[in-house]
Amino acid sequence: MKNISTETRFIGLLGYPLKQSYSPAMHNGAFEKLGLNKIYIPIEVTAEDFGDVIKGIAKMNFDGLNVTKPHKISVIPYLDEIDDMAKIIGAVNVVTIKNGRLKGYNSDGPGFYRAFEEETGEKVKDKIIFILGSGGAARAIAITLAMKEVKKIYICNRTFDKAAGLAADINKKVKNCAQAVPLNFPEMAVALKDTEVVINTTSVGMLPEPEGTPLDKKLLDKGLIVCDIVYNPLKTRLLQEAEKSGCITVTGISMMLYQGTESFELWTGLEPPVEAMSSIVRRLIL
Ligand code: ATR
Repeated sequence: MKNISTETRFIGLLGYPLKQSYSPAMHNGAFEKLGLNKIYIPIEVTAEDFGDVIKGIAKMNFDGLNVTKPHKISVIPYLDEIDDMAKIIGAVNVVTIKNGRLKGYNSDGPGFYRAFEEETGEKVKDKIIFILGSGGAARAIAITLAMKEVKKIYICNRTFDKAAGLAADINKKVKNCAQAVPLNFPEMAVALKDTEVVINTTSVGMLPEPEGTPLDKKLLDKGLIVCDIVYNPLKTRLLQEAEKSGCITVTGISMMLYQGTESFELWTGLEPPVEAMSSIVRRLIL
């Protein structure tokens, strides 16, 4: 146990429920590794109490926050400032607090981007990307990759209107991306012909239903890079089948880790201890 004093700085995780989160162990391990007098604490907050809690936190000895479901959008009116990318994404999962001023960021998309480049050694720039799903995670990843100058993004969702909405937002708000194209599920086979990177952002394949997969294995060509943001199980059926087809794969644990390292950097301004954070997360998941 640390020596807690008035010098101790806190980072809070606001969400509901929080039982499943690996972030407290990952960040407290990182603070300990670097000998920082900081503590990361999970705070379960309902939607009803969120406003009172965040206003109080702004006046306390907190350096920042992670914000998770169901508060990633409702936090925005409480911020003094919002980073450009988070503004376009329309959701915030990291807040820095300096002199009582709250600034919001989104590290979900940048976490995926960093995981992709670290794990594959490839660049996303000029690649053709195929995203499955159009929820919050898809939004963060698609908009981040669009801002990193990918060539084209197919967005394929069970509910077409959501895919169309996300594609329209990218085409309107992100200047660097050549084209975002919404698709229905039946159209995926054609789009996959020129795709280089597939990213599953749906919950299909997640425990307790690990037998699910969002993509028929016949569509997994050897040259593809296949990424899954599901990390429970660590190797989803999609990734197992992709490996068997000779594809390069990226697991969801990497995105989880790097959204954490991006957050850590924002709160502390320090280089995060990636190895220590990675081994803590892997130990908890495996
Ligand atoms: P998150 O914040 O994790 O992205 P979300 O916003 O609830 O979660 O989004 C979940 C995504 O997974 C959606 O794109 C959803 O598709 P719909 O928009 O059609 O609901 C997709 N999804 C969830 N279960 C699915 C299933 N069984 N088959 C296909 N898509 C599914």
